[in-house]
Amino acid sequence: MTPIEQIKDKIDIVEFIRSYIPLSPAGKNFKALCPFHKEKTPSFIISPERQTWHCFGSCSEGGDVFKFLMKYENLEFYEALKILAEKAGVELKKTSPMEQRQFEILYEINDAAKDFFILQLADEKNKEALEYLYDRGLKKETIEEFELGFAPQGFDQLTLVLIKKGFAVKDIERAGLNFKTEKGNYVDRFRNRIMFPIHNHFGKTIGFSGRIMPKFDTGEMGKYVNSPETPIFSKSKILYGFYASKKFIREENSAVLVEGQMDFLMAHQDGVKNTAAVSGTALTPDHLKTLRRQTENLVFCFDNDEAGFKAAERSIDLANSLDFSVKILTLDEYKDPAEVAAKKPGILANLIKKSESAMEFYFSRYLSEGKEKKDLSEFKKNLRIILEKIKNLASPIEQSHWLKELSLKTGVKEEALADEMKQLKLINRLSGLDAGQPINRQIIQLNSRRETIIQRLIGLMMVKDEWRNQMKNYLNYLPNDYLAIAESLINRTKLKDERLLNLLNLISLRSSFEFQNFEEEKINFEYQELLGHLHSEYFKEKREEMTKLLKEAEKSEDEEKISSILKEFDEISKIIHNRPTT
Ligand code: CTP
Ligand code: MN
Repeated sequence: MTPIEQIKDKIDIVEFIRSYIPLSPAGKNFKALCPFHKEKTPSFIISPERQTWHCFGSCSEGGDVFKFLMKYENLEFYEALKILAEKAGVELKKTSPMEQRQFEILYEINDAAKDFFILQLADEKNKEALEYLYDRGLKKETIEEFELGFAPQGFDQLTLVLIKKGFAVKDIERAGLNFKTEKGNYVDRFRNRIMFPIHNHFGKTIGFSGRIMPKFDTGEMGKYVNSPETPIFSKSKILYGFYASKKFIREENSAVLVEGQMDFLMAHQDGVKNTAAVSGTALTPDHLKTLRRQTENLVFCFDNDEAGFKAAERSIDLANSLDFSVKILTLDEYKDPAEVAAKKPGILANLIKKSESAMEFYFSRYLSEGKEKKDLSEFKKNLRIILEKIKNLASPIEQSHWLKELSLKTGVKEEALADEMKQLKLINRLSGLDAGQPINRQIIQLNSRRETIIQRLIGLMMVKDEWRNQMKNYLNYLPNDYLAIAESLINRTKLKDERLLNLLNLISLRSSFEFQNFEEEKINFEYQELLGHLHSEYFKEKREEMTKLLKEAEKSEDEEKISSILKEFDEISKIIHNRPTT
């Protein structure tokens, strides 16, 4: 057994999770209020049998005891491993001391570098750097709280200091703080820069963002330089400042997202403490997962330029598709939130209160006065863009609300808008999601009606032998994956395909959650209903296919084909209501 298996063997997931949150029994399983998103009824289920947990609510996360601890305490895998190994009494030293040490050392190096930069900023000879920060409006307390520093001129000052402290130059390179030149010398990555330490969501320094001092800003080098990706720093996962602001985000039940470090610091200093910065990248699904644990209400306050609007648009679309509630603050006469806070202290909080909903932002961006009248094809194009945005909303209630608004605003009939919307493809709903995770999300959001029905049936099949047998008459209506699963249940054979096994695990976990409070009679009723639906859904899908074929045949005026399709269509229509007898 690997140490990981040993740990899982020794630690009971139910007892472990119970030490964090209260659990109550739910049949063979246990349930709780999900600690990773807000909810009133429990959708967090723990299976002792499989030693897994899963949230069937909006976060739809799941995993083993490691995943739970990592998420709950915001730990990296190795940190969680260390804690659990200790708890389980499993010796790790023998197995991977090197690997673990290599990991820890990166934290130590970043921490030592942070201390060096802080000392440099306090040094009289670098007083220009501190003056620059004061000039930008930052106060001493803010500079100290967020541990800002300065990387001095020279080639290898930091590297030398770190070597003197006993770190190996190779490790300093792995931490991203220096790099090797062609001649083979090591050069500090950050020189002549104001240093913003980047903390992980736990508060440990894992990297830096460095802003060039203005007098060296020739435009040739990047204004900002960031640590490269390292084993402890991944830019797309980190929100700058989040470690300090998460409790405010939870308290206010809203997060204000800004672009840059300066925006974050100035907003924080100006009393807007429920803020985090995406640091010049687009908002990612990982960011959103992190945020969801504190709130589902977001206010985007990006730079007041085309790049900022584009970033806002991408971020809105992603967040809306994942059912966040999104607002936008556009800063008419200011370039970014940092400037607002510097020039007009105290007003940012009020501006944020008045931010508009994302859809209003789209209406004014794509349908501003005059734009619609000028050019019909331009109007149509813009209208479609907005319809795509509406279609992208996860909630049908919101969709219907905004269709109505759009109809009022443009004078186009609501039905026409709805028809047009149906034709449009969903924007990046899938591409934006984390591909590693979402088998659960697929189950919850992305499947067809028939697939949902099938999953429920499979979940219930296992309950009673009689129900297994009934399913035999319906196997024709199952797509291959589900056919394999159903057959394995009917024949009581083991599934070999890991993917299908995972799917089955998830289905049964979900079903024990969904039906936890049902009487057997009611479940039987449900099962029979579902069988009927499966049958009619199957033929409805068939009929839709036929309709498509019919349209094509009509286009090519193929009379023979038309009549054969019509005949088949009639037959299907008849059997839709004729389900197999059982
Ligand atoms: N950024 C980056 N790399 C760059 C430029 C910007 O990573 N080459 C990130 C930084 O995190 C920065 C944020 O994007 O804080 C915002 O960039 P920008 O708006 O260009 O910076 P300004 O607000 O103009 O910066 P400053 O206020 O310091 O002049
Ligand atoms: Mn900016």
